[in-house]
Amino acid sequence: MEFEHACDLPPVVTVAPCTIVIFGASGDLTSRKLIPALFSLYGQGKLPDPVAIVGCGRSMMNDSQFREKLFAQLPAETTGRKQWPDFAAGVHYRALTYDLQSFQGLAGFLAELDRKVGARGNRIFDLAVPPELYPVIAELLGEAGLARESGQSEGWARIIVEKPFGRDLASSISLNAILLKYFREEQIFRIDHYLAKETVQNTLIFRFANAIFEPLWNRHHIEYVGIVAAEELGIGNRAGYYEDAGVLRDMFQNHMMQLLVLTAMEPPARFDSRSVQDEKTKVIQSLRDFSTTDGSRLDLGQYGPGSINGQPVQGYRAEPGVRPDSTTPTFALMELYIDNWRWQNVPFYLVSGKRLPRKQTRIVVQFREVPHRLFRDVLGDNIFANRLTIETYPEEAIRLTFQTKNPGTSVCLRAMTMDFVYHEHYRGTTLDAYARVLLDCMVGDHMLFWRQDGIEQSWAFLTPVLEICEECQYRAQQLQIYPAGTWGPEQVHALMSRIKDE
Ligand SMILES: NC(=O)c1ccc[n+]([C@@H]2O[C@H](COP(=O)([O-])OP(=O)(O)OC[C@H]3O[C@@H](n4cnc5c(N)ncnc54)[C@H](OP(=O)(O)O)[C@@H]3O)[C@@H](O)[C@H]2O)c1
Repeated sequence: MEFEHACDLPPVVTVAPCTIVIFGASGDLTSRKLIPALFSLYGQGKLPDPVAIVGCGRSMMNDSQFREKLFAQLPAETTGRKQWPDFAAGVHYRALTYDLQSFQGLAGFLAELDRKVGARGNRIFDLAVPPELYPVIAELLGEAGLARESGQSEGWARIIVEKPFGRDLASSISLNAILLKYFREEQIFRIDHYLAKETVQNTLIFRFANAIFEPLWNRHHIEYVGIVAAEELGIGNRAGYYEDAGVLRDMFQNHMMQLLVLTAMEPPARFDSRSVQDEKTKVIQSLRDFSTTDGSRLDLGQYGPGSINGQPVQGYRAEPGVRPDSTTPTFALMELYIDNWRWQNVPFYLVSGKRLPRKQTRIVVQFREVPHRLFRDVLGDNIFANRLTIETYPEEAIRLTFQTKNPGTSVCLRAMTMDFVYHEHYRGTTLDAYARVLLDCMVGDHMLFWRQDGIEQSWAFLTPVLEICEECQYRAQQLQIYPAGTWGPEQVHALMSRIKDE
């Protein structure tokens, strides 16, 4: 039986008119994610009216060339294309360079546009540019007066910062310092689009809106937690970024840490952004310091040549732009502990890698075995303990595995899975992760974004690990090459078989 609560109960949050300014608008993120997300919001009637979108960048284009380029690059699955001309009428382009004069010109242009379209001085600045430009743009916006707010409910300015947010603790602190020189924390939206996926958000609802799981959600009943973000794809044409980042910066500091935090956090006092962020931060603060000498585990790997879905693929070192002797890890398995009452000595296994057999994103909560094995005489020791899986990919689903008896006279147990698959039970339109974060920024809701203290603590935890890993000797000794299309280096296969999908 399904019972659906009304979800548009008052107060209904309205989205105020605004202008969305995208820097780096000629790039990949804009055409592949941001514009399709805004277009889908438009199709669902969720964009404010009026709204203006202004692409900015060094490339020389006029409005119509920019609109044509965006239309040509819409992803194949884009629906509602008939609405494109109406949507595109609100899309503009302004060529600029990254200096004060150009930004003062932008300020004038935006003021004029405001007068024309009635966006009431509300502005979102989205930094879809390489990370070196984040501090540059924040400073130029500040100096050009574009970070200032009117102090009223209207005339606000917000800034969206993409990942990577720094490359270690020192750089994230210095980026925060520049942002906070010109913007208040409430104006800053540090994106982690993983958080906007329905199942990820549902983790909180599942844990805190159901009475039956929370009493079991601790070290007394849970043996371990596995968090897996496996990718079939290699690095494609992102060598410039990936060679420096590697899997730890690319996945662990942000996405994996957020999944860990949502699984492990205490119930917040209220379901509002501040209370949730407070609890998330406490989890990161409670992470046991990582050391490679005290039994903490870190396995690093890099894909070599192999095959995916029967097709041969090249190794990482042969990818365009990668050094032939690169020691950048494309796979990591990390065993972490949270030093608090709830989680003492429960291992959290975080795994992410490229060129694994298939794309899979999931949180596995493995419960302990029953305390007394009543059926040992007939079944031996092989009774699987309960397992809860929160899956984001390939399906958005929640699955619970438990034991049942097979029909018949003999005692024969069968592990069954009870599952809830989103798309089977929900027929409405869903928001893609980028659409969701853009919409949340428009309404000023920080729940799905990183707060300054969380991001710095996450880097404070990871930076010493990175420092160890980046010692040449450590890397040369520890980095294991795994054939593309396998579940990482051989030494992790036994553990992987406990946490990945069969
Ligand atoms: N692409 C993704 O799927 C993705 C996913 C997650 C996070 N991100 C992050 O989002 C940001 C944008 O990603 P992207 O893939 O769109 O980047 P991109 O295509 O490499 O660059 C975006 C635009 O930035 C401008 N640009 C590049 N280098 C510049 C420089 N040195 N100085 C000034 N402008 C420069 C270029 O536009 P002009 O030449 O016209 O100025 C370029 O079209 C990056 O920080 C990336 O890490 C991207």
